[in-house]
Amino acid sequence: MRIVREVLTPAELRKFREALDTAQWQDGRQTAGHVAVRAKNNQQLADDDPVAIGLGQLVVDRLGANDAFMAAALPLKILPPRFNRYSEGRGYADHIDSAVFSVPGTPHRVRSDLSATLFLSEPGEYDGGELVIATEAGPCKVKLPAGDMILYPGNTLHHVTTVGRGARLAAFFWIQSLVREGERRAMLWELDDSIRAISTTSPDDPTITRLVGLYHNLLRHWSDT
Ligand code: NI
Repeated sequence: MRIVREVLTPAELRKFREALDTAQWQDGRQTAGHVAVRAKNNQQLADDDPVAIGLGQLVVDRLGANDAFMAAALPLKILPPRFNRYSEGRGYADHIDSAVFSVPGTPHRVRSDLSATLFLSEPGEYDGGELVIATEAGPCKVKLPAGDMILYPGNTLHHVTTVGRGARLAAFFWIQSLVREGERRAMLWELDDSIRAISTTSPDDPTITRLVGLYHNLLRHWSDT
């Protein structure tokens, strides 16, 4: 699990909020499977809503230039981001996300190796609305500043607690990684981060070139394209 800070700038966030405040929100249960429909109580924008398509593309563009995201996710395919809204009394009970998603309007499919939630409301704007992810160490509650994003394994049980006041807006989507296994992604991230650290403290150390080579050879070994 990893937090990616400041995916969007304050100016971009304002643009998102203006567009989403007047958007055509629909019942989120329309896109839930027959089991999830009992757990899900929120609103979403339709996949073909021009607002969702425009803002979603901007999110994908920002992520492509975000080193922290690229290093953590090693993305192969990103499902076009969707947008949801939890107003007072709404939440989403425990569930595991679908394994494979169709990319609307295309024959392509994305395996959900990683789930992402990009927070678009400030924590003080609503009570509740925490994303709670089950981990080996117990439940992990996530409620981030607007513009920040949580990346978590697609195979985890999670829920969104009921909003008691205000409204929680977010973008959410799934990523198929070049490296399917989370443990391998975590080791590559650790190596990448270590190389960054050495490059800062000892930029002329010839060992850096060997470690970068090792990183790429591991990625070559483990990646599917
Ligand atoms: Ni979910």
